[in-house]
Formats: sequence, C-alpha cells, structure tokens
Amino acid sequence: MTHAPHTARFTLDPAFTVSPVDPRIFGSFVEHLGRCVYTGVHEPGHPTADEAGLRTDVLDLVRELGVTVVRYPGGNFVSGYKWEDGVGPAEERPRRLDLAWRSTETNRFGLGEFMDFVRKAGAEPMMAINLGTRGVAEAIELQEYANHPGGTELSDRRAAHGDAEPYGIRLWCLGNEMDGPWQTGHKTADEYGRIAAETARAMRQIDPGVELVVCGSSSQAMETFAAWEATVLGHSYDLVDHISLHAYYQEQDGDRDSFLASAVDTESFIENVVATCDHIGARLKSDKRINLSFDEWNVWYQDGAIPSLSGEGRGEDWAEAPRLLEDNYSVTDAVVVGSLLIALLRHADRVKVACQAQLVNVIAPIATEPGGRAWRQTIFHPFAQTSRHGRGTVLDVRVDSPRHTTRRFGEVDLLHATAVRDEATGAVTVFAVNRSQDEALPLEIALRGLGLGEVVEHSVLADADPDARNTAAEPDRVVPRQVTGTVLGDGGETLKATLEPLSWNVIRLA
Ligand code: AHR
Repeated sequence: MTHAPHTARFTLDPAFTVSPVDPRIFGSFVEHLGRCVYTGVHEPGHPTADEAGLRTDVLDLVRELGVTVVRYPGGNFVSGYKWEDGVGPAEERPRRLDLAWRSTETNRFGLGEFMDFVRKAGAEPMMAINLGTRGVAEAIELQEYANHPGGTELSDRRAAHGDAEPYGIRLWCLGNEMDGPWQTGHKTADEYGRIAAETARAMRQIDPGVELVVCGSSSQAMETFAAWEATVLGHSYDLVDHISLHAYYQEQDGDRDSFLASAVDTESFIENVVATCDHIGARLKSDKRINLSFDEWNVWYQDGAIPSLSGEGRGEDWAEAPRLLEDNYSVTDAVVVGSLLIALLRHADRVKVACQAQLVNVIAPIATEPGGRAWRQTIFHPFAQTSRHGRGTVLDVRVDSPRHTTRRFGEVDLLHATAVRDEATGAVTVFAVNRSQDEALPLEIALRGLGLGEVVEHSVLADADPDARNTAAEPDRVVPRQVTGTVLGDGGETLKATLEPLSWNVIRLA
C-alpha cells in the first residue's frame, strides 16, 4: 500500500494492552478557594438551590461531566484548616482567616455539606487532611468523626449533627504540596516523610483498609523533585498506596506549539515518578507497587495572562468568596486538556486516581454567576467525553507520526493518541489530538482482531478561531461537532480519518 507522506499511523490489537482504566482517574477537586464552594457548588437562595443550599444546575453539570471522585477541602487551604470549624450548626461556625488565599472563610460549608454534595453528584469523596499546622491527633479525630459507626464522643457528635450513618471515606490525602515553600507548615522531605508515616500508621490502626496518598512534588520543575519522592517513600513505602503528582500548564511567550505539547511533560513526569517509586521498592526488596494519584492537573494561567470569567481582578484581601483564578478557557486550552487526559490514559497501569483542578469557577470546567446561570467552559467537553467513553482497557498505542520542533520540548509527534476498548461490547474509542496549528493530519489505524464494523461517530473540538471561548452570554460558542468522511476499509481492518488542525478528536467504533 502506498501512503501519503504526512500520514500518522498506529496499530490496535486486543492482545496488546496497557491496563484496565481505574474510573477514579476521572476525578475533580473542590477547594475552599474563591468561588469554587460559595456561589459555585453552594448558594442558598439561588433559584436552583435544593434544601441544603446546593445548586442543582451545577449538580446536573457535574453529573454530565462524569466526575467519579472529588478531592476536598484543599489544596493550599487545607494546610491551615480546622475540620471541626465546618461541622455542627452552620450559624454557630466561626469565621476564620484563610492564609492560603488571603480570604475570610465563613465555614458555612463543611464536611457534612460536602458529603451531601458528593453523594448527589454520584462521586466518591477524597479527603485531604491538614499536615501543615496540624498532625496525627487531628487526622485520626477527623477519621473517627467521619467513619466510625457510633458509640464514641466523635462519632456520636457526627450523629448529633444529623448524619447517623458513617461517611465511609476510603481515600485520604496526607496533606497537600508539603514540598512547596508557599505551603503553610511547609516541611523538608524528612520532616514530612516522618509525619506522613506516623499519620498513616495511626489511620491504619483505626482502619487498615483506608487508601492513603502521600505528597509527591508540586511539579516536576521543583528543585527537590525526585529526591523528595525518594526520601518521603523511604519513610512511608509500606504504609501508603499512592504518591501524588501536580502539574499545571499555560501558553507562555506566545509559544503555542510548546503549549500544545504540554503532555510531553506530563508523561515524563509520570514515568520519572514511577521510576523513583520502583527504585525505592527495589531498595526495600518489596513486591509492593506504589501507584500514582495525579490529584491536581489542568491548564492554569498563573500569571493572569488570559481574561478571567468575570473580567475582575484577583480579589481583595480577606474578602469572602472573592473572584480568584477564574480562567476563561479557549479552544486551544481544551485541546491541551484533551491531550493531558490522553497522557493519563496512556499510563493507566500506574495512574489510578486523578483530579482535574478544580470543578467550579476556579480554573474549572463549570462556570457560574451568583444568582445566575451555570455553563460549560470549553475544557468541559474533552473531560466529559473521555469520562463517558474512556472506560474499559487501554490498548497499547505506539504512534508513527510526522513530527515538528518545539522550543520547549524539541521534536514532538504531531499526533497524540490513545484507545480504550470496552471488554463487554468490544467497542473501541480512539482519543486523538492533532498538535499542528495549521495542517490537517491524515490518520490511518490498522485494526487487528477487533471485529469492528462501524464508525459510530467522529467528534471534533476545533474552531477557525483557536482563541474562541464560551461565556455567560455565549455559553455554547464552542462545542464538539460531528465529522464526516471517517471510514473503515479493508473489511474493517483499516480506519482512515483526517484530524483538523489544532483539534481534539473522539472516534467511536463498534
Ligand atoms: O488548585 C490551586 C492550587 O494549586 C492548590 O490549592 C494547590 O494545591 C496548588 O498549588
């Protein structure tokens, strides 16, 4: 067969797989930060609010997004948080300074409200504990309050607060970004490794079945990266299940090609953390494998280089629920988010939990106006499509792709792709990004032994204006649309498609 010179190709074969997908990689994150909680998920008095003050318009969108896990209550916020402030009668709860975001925390929303929210969202809670200003005692007190059935002061206090049934929280983060000098109660790797191990040991005394995430690095660029992981795991390897990774990306200095290749960093970060975990495992002569919890990832314009949703600034000191980090995302940002999801799926053998940061208003797929509407940002769409169709087993995809040179990453493939097979139905979904800004990319996939007979759909997110955004006034300016001309040939053995420039693609085969 002769090929067009600039065609990207790969082969799919059900015998060559990466791993089943853990649905918990489609997680999200609710932090007490800006308007994520207040006027985001919680707004008593909003026309759609339920009896608990939860916005049902937001809950509908969270379910549509397909969020499986929600991490809470921070983020940087958790490192100064007293969980006791957020339980009991709401009108008696204290107002506190939130040092992380220079805001005033009213505590009108706390653990009970959060559990109500995740249940209604159909998701699993992932609770972070404060290892910044607090320690072992407060962690096990929270665990007892949340999970012990009854008959102790703390579990009876939960029942008196209205929740007789224990919350059954299984997934816990041992602090947040403790390697970061900005973190309240920041620690050295040895200091943190010790307190994480002591906390893990105590939490397992209450319940050996808890799943624990120890803090890795706040990004691969941290000076202490890898040494931090090695030291922390040296203290805690036998006591924890996962190590965390955090990564945020933005376009810098007009270098869009590098931005579109952000997942090169994501994949090398994952592979470097896996190597570090396995090195410590080998040193300890352990058969146990530490998995990865990529519990903060997204596009985030940390320098405020793009418009915020509100057009307002970055908030005033000690304001209540100020407008902070309300990034308004473009088509290009959505394509990068799609590529980051592909990176997570491609490493489904070790990435077992992941949380897009965050869920509502704050660097988020869902935006709201106080008293007003809720809508989908551009980045909503790749997440929702991947959560819906990315369940099953990830197939091993090795691409042979035209390449181009980027300033930050050197030579990179124009095609970034993965594929997931639903074992029950045999259906296969291909997720693919074309990183070229100006050239369409022909794609040919050899399909071996998959018995596929039909292209169900080829959906694309792309736009003549790669900076197009959704806003309150035009909430559906950017949505996925269907592509024609994607066909199966050779009796179902070959798929041919064309990927538009700068595009996110979902190709479903049955
Ligand atoms: O998600 C925003 C912030 O980013 C989180 O609070 C922190 O953990 C990270 O640095």
